[in-house]
Parts: sequence; structure tokens; C-alpha cells
Amino acid sequence: MTESTLLAHDHSELDAALAALVAALAEGDAARSLEHLDLFWARLAVHIRAENIHLFPVLLRAAEASRGSAPAAGAPEPKEIRNLVAQLRDDHDFFMSELTAAVKQLRALSRSGQPDGLREVREKIDAVSRRLDTHNALEESRVYHWAAVLLDPPEQIALNESIRQELENLPSRFRKPGEDG
Ligand SMILES: [Fe+2]
Ligand SMILES: [Fe+2]
Repeated sequence: MTESTLLAHDHSELDAALAALVAALAEGDAARSLEHLDLFWARLAVHIRAENIHLFPVLLRAAEASRGSAPAAGAPEPKEIRNLVAQLRDDHDFFMSELTAAVKQLRALSRSGQPDGLREVREKIDAVSRRLDTHNALEESRVYHWAAVLLDPPEQIALNESIRQELENLPSRFRKPGEDG
């Protein structure tokens, strides 16, 4: 898989994890919602880390390096890359801060055994879900393709490997038996 298909495939797995969380919240089950939220939060965190630490810096460097020379066919302007990456990083910060707050709320709710506060958690998750839809569509239609345009094949392979390793770097409680590292 190339980096763009790896990350796009991860989006669809994240969607499935989010759908399971939304279903548990709709049933009003705080403990099960917390389990699903914990998994979704952890998976989104490694996905975001792969983009923030590996994909975005590589694209920004490639954009800077190509500055002044004629852009390759289909290559975005450096300014376009910088602006879109800044917007996507903003989204990432929003997702992580909302999910961290939702984890805290759900922990308190499942300890108290009172599902009254679930509505607030649902609203947070709905807001994350809506913004994530737009965010992922933007990445899949634009940013993920830029790596293929801006990087040479060895750079693409190296980026792909870094992303793959980052996506596998889930907290140990989510790894299947026999997996380590
Ligand atoms: Fe992202
Ligand atoms: Fe993404």
C-alpha cells in the first residue's frame, strides 16, 4: 500500500470505530461507550501522529525545496500546502482536545452510574464526527496525493514505512496477543 492508501484505509477503519461508539452512546451505555471511545481515541491519536510527524513535515520540506523551480505537473504551490497543512493541524488539535474531554466525562459518568450526562458527550462526539468527515475528505482528495507528486520513489517508500510503523504503534492494551514492539 502507498502512504495515501494506507492512511485512506485507516480513515475507513476509524469510521467503523466511531460508528460503534455512536451506537453505544445511543444505547445509553456509559461503560461500553467508554471502551469504544478509548479505542477510537487511541487509533485517531496514532493516525494524527503519523500525519503530523511524518506526512506533513515531508510535504512542507518538499514544497520548500521546489520553491523557485517550475512546479511539477499537478504539484501544489508551497503556499497552498502550508495553508492546508495549518488548517488540518488545527482540526487535529480540535479532535484531540474534544476526545480527551469526552474521555474524562465518560469516566466520571461510568463511575457514578448515572447516564444523565451522556447527552453532552454525544454532542461532543457528533461535532468531532462532522468535522472529521470534512477533514478526511480534504486529505483524501488533496493532501494524500501530493506525496506522489512531490516525492521521488525512494522518499515515498521511506515515508510509507514511517507511516506504517506509526499506525501500528498503538498502546499495548489494544494490541493483539503475540504483537509487540
Ligand atoms: Fe488528519
Ligand atoms: Fe487522515
